[in-house]
Amino acid sequence: MKSSANNEDGRRNFLKYIINGGLIGFVFSIFYPLVSYLKPPKQEEVEVASVSAGKLDEFEKDSGKIIQFGSKPVILIRTQTDKLLAYDAVCTHLDCTVQYKSEMGVIWCACHNGKYDLSGKNISGPPPKPLQPYNVSLKGDEIIISKLS
Ligand code: FES
Repeated sequence: MKSSANNEDGRRNFLKYIINGGLIGFVFSIFYPLVSYLKPPKQEEVEVASVSAGKLDEFEKDSGKIIQFGSKPVILIRTQTDKLLAYDAVCTHLDCTVQYKSEMGVIWCACHNGKYDLSGKNISGPPPKPLQPYNVSLKGDEIIISKLS
């Protein structure tokens, strides 16, 4: 009689383990792919020393354009006085991409009306820091942007 009760308990425990294990497996099979899908993939940071920004004669005075520098955007500006300037194009406030506003003569962030002067210094609005400068040089008539050393 006692042996039969022990057998019954053993079978119950065995079934509990099987059912609990199955439930854990089921939950894992649902959440693992979901978490894997939502987690952004790791991207290798591409180390770039310099990039070509095109020909000087294709770039009008008093204008700006965004250039891809590896995985980062850089804003290249050709001033009215024919100076070439380049800065990190990511706003130091909340990472929006900045643009050149020729009518105001500033680098402007549309997200919260942040402004930087043409030396990259934050002059109005919420940006807390200046934009990182890049080196701009000419190789023939080709504009080369490189990191400051
Ligand atoms: S993100 Fe540029 S001012 Fe807020």
